[in-house]
Amino acid sequence: MNRTLVICKPDAVERRLVGEIVGRLEGKGLRLVAGELRLVDAATASEHYAEHAGKPFYGELVSFITRSPAFVAVVEGPEDTWKIVRTLMGPTNPAEAPPGTIRGDLATEMGENLIHGSDAAESAAREIGIFFPDLG
Ligand code: RTP
Ligand code: MG
Repeated sequence: MNRTLVICKPDAVERRLVGEIVGRLEGKGLRLVAGELRLVDAATASEHYAEHAGKPFYGELVSFITRSPAFVAVVEGPEDTWKIVRTLMGPTNPAEAPPGTIRGDLATEMGENLIHGSDAAESAAREIGIFFPDLG
């Protein structure tokens, strides 16, 4: 089995969309192996989004992800589960995300795009280590 990190971002919790989002992942056949409502602190956010440090949107991104609790989770499925999650999410910009995807159906703005999913097998391993070090 293969695992990836999912974050239902603060906007998802605020808009009561966690159940809808997790339901889509579960409906697809993925299984929750860990999940917690958690206020992500600035240190964890900078570690998680290290690849974006220095970009123009970085400050906004960190203040967004830390502004209120997020639902941080690990989901499990077949090979390349990270890719399955990314397909269900849709592209980063909800304005370009097709109907049927989480971002395409439920969001309108780049800065409030509801869900994070690891973007590669290596990212999944790194990010699970940040948020759920005990999962090993
Ligand atoms: P995420 O990491 O949150 O799952 O999103 P992603 O892979 O689809 O997008 P990524 O390129 O990793 O960017 C992380 C988050 O930064 C915001 N962003 N804003 N204004 C911009 O050009 C811009 N680019 C990225 C988005 O909120 C994106 O989810
Ligand atoms: Mg990303």
